[in-house]
Amino acid sequence: MAWFRRKRINSDESPHHHEAVAASAAAPTADNAQAEWKPPTEKLLVVRGVERVFHVGSREIQVLKGIDMELGWKQLVMLRGRSGSGKTTLLNLIGGLDTPTRGEIYFQNQPFHEWNDDQRTAVRRREIGFIFQTYALMPLLSAYENVELSLRMAGTPRAEWDQRIRHCLELVGLGKRMHHRPYELSGGEQQRVAIAKAISHRPKLILADEPTAELDSQMGAQVMRVFRDIIETEKITICMTTHDPTIMEVADHVYQMVDGKFVS
Ligand SMILES: Nc1ncnc2c1ncn2[C@@H]1O[C@H](COP(=O)(O)OP(=O)(O)OP(=O)(O)O)[C@@H](O)[C@H]1O
Ligand SMILES: [Mg+2]
Repeated sequence: MAWFRRKRINSDESPHHHEAVAASAAAPTADNAQAEWKPPTEKLLVVRGVERVFHVGSREIQVLKGIDMELGWKQLVMLRGRSGSGKTTLLNLIGGLDTPTRGEIYFQNQPFHEWNDDQRTAVRRREIGFIFQTYALMPLLSAYENVELSLRMAGTPRAEWDQRIRHCLELVGLGKRMHHRPYELSGGEQQRVAIAKAISHRPKLILADEPTAELDSQMGAQVMRVFRDIIETEKITICMTTHDPTIMEVADHVYQMVDGKFVS
């Protein structure tokens, strides 16, 4: 289907016509277009030999059995696999919500697997955004206030909030629905608020666990279009799980997980 077919621009090869900032240290922003964007030389994320064993009572359950993966810049990468194959477990490790039993995870060359909770939390707040199947919005807050909350939590200076909130909500096509609460929005619109929230603090990586599972195919397609747009404008890499073969068509890369391992 042509509707959300990806634009074939690979930043690693041809960054010349892209807007925005120079190096990884600077926060990428679509607000200051013009300057040339070059992807940093290091990989965004490298996973090496990662295993995760859970202890349940006296039993050991090995859920991840040696995962190797790499994420570059401005990519849309998908994880597929049957229920229980370990996709969410892996996303939690990549996002620093959990630590591997064995193996290594490097986030921009930094050894995530060696860091303590506080260090990982600090990186997560700055550099990573999460999107969940069920949107995870605050029901009593408007779309605007939901995004604002995320900026508050990320420690973004208050003076930048208003402009950034409007920018993010406009990016996801909700400029006219900013002051609606979640119950006044469709599922697809709520998920787009969640996307605005996840990108607001300018993370480099978005982790999305089945972000389209609750949506019909049209709304799912809309979310995927928004993903493609924000990859370009915000210089973000998105790693998501999905069961939907149509959605997988637009991925830059698909990792197929079977029983805790990737198969090709
Ligand atoms: N904290 C935990 N303690 C024990 N077992 C766990 C824990 N978290 C996950 N598991 C087990 O690990 C396996 C993989 O779970 P995971 O949630 O990663 O699968 P998934 O691929 O995301 O599945 P789904 O498509 O249903 O979301 C499951 O068998 C699950 O029961
Ligand atoms: Mg899961």
